[in-house]
Amino acid sequence: MTLSSITETRPLADGHQIPKFGFGTYLLSDQATMDATIKTAWDAGYRLFDTAMLYRNEDLLGNTLQTLTLPRPDLYLTSKVAEVVQGYDETLKAVEGSLKRLQTDYLDLLLIHWPVREHFFDTWRAMEQLKADGKVRSIGVSNYTVAHLELLATQAKEMPVVNQVEYHPYLNQQALLDYDTANHIVTEAWSPLGRRAVLGDPMIKKIGEHHQKSVAQVILRWELQHGILPIPKSQHAERIVENAQVFDFELTDDELSMIDLLNKNQRTGNEPEIVYETGKQY
Ligand SMILES: NC(=O)c1ccc[n+]([C@@H]2O[C@H](COP(=O)([O-])OP(=O)(O)OC[C@H]3O[C@@H](n4cnc5c(N)ncnc54)[C@H](OP(=O)(O)O)[C@@H]3O)[C@@H](O)[C@H]2O)c1
Repeated sequence: MTLSSITETRPLADGHQIPKFGFGTYLLSDQATMDATIKTAWDAGYRLFDTAMLYRNEDLLGNTLQTLTLPRPDLYLTSKVAEVVQGYDETLKAVEGSLKRLQTDYLDLLLIHWPVREHFFDTWRAMEQLKADGKVRSIGVSNYTVAHLELLATQAKEMPVVNQVEYHPYLNQQALLDYDTANHIVTEAWSPLGRRAVLGDPMIKKIGEHHQKSVAQVILRWELQHGILPIPKSQHAERIVENAQVFDFELTDDELSMIDLLNKNQRTGNEPEIVYETGKQY
């Protein structure tokens, strides 16, 4: 896979293309911050913007995209179905709300935010319907384990093309990545910087010094070279630009392996199996 520019795309199993790198919007919660942040990100080359019903900022992002008059075909918009609106009819209705708030007539990618046992197959059936109706171009999941994906395969007409999971050097989900890859599912990394928990790592700092790159840049490059699609979030202009400058250096195989060894199975977020059983984040 070539990795020479932030605007490059990669193919999805359903025939669509997805940018190789994206931007997270969790906790961008006022209009002025959203406007300034998205403007900086767009100018730095980000095209994929990740939101969710749960973030309560789809309306802010929708307003920003209108204000900045960004060309819709050049944007890649992702949203996610929240736990509380899972189920067949509920999902169809909830996505109408997302489209209205984002002021668009289609999403590029819709994900089920977390697996929920009670509505597991019905929600996916709604996702397939939304794709057939042209409301969403691609459908995927988030926080699915290998077991959830295998269960889904027993009834799905089509399988997810993306699985967005927590992934960073302290939670290196190599087995899940291998499974996704073997099944033509793109792995997106949420909290790709471990919500800052990994940024003080001395080993990564040393590797960064060698390349004259920051710890954040080394981590994002490690993810890209492993075929993962990172969606870092920042609301500081200099960091937004810094995070995008990861296409002008390359980590060696030894450096990749050294970072692989830092795994501690350390989560910043919820354990998917508990959300699956209880039906909610905790
Ligand atoms: N599917 C899911 O369940 C799920 C869950 C969580 C997140 N997500 C998505 O993934 C996106 C990213 O995850 P995240 O926001 O949790 O975590 P993250 O991207 O790993 O880290 C964001 C934090 O790191 C800081 N930061 C960013 N770049 C930095 C840099 N170069 N140097 C120093 N600090 C830096 C940010 O601070 P400032 O903003 O102050 O710069 C912010 O505090 C979210 O925005 C959301 O879209 C999805």
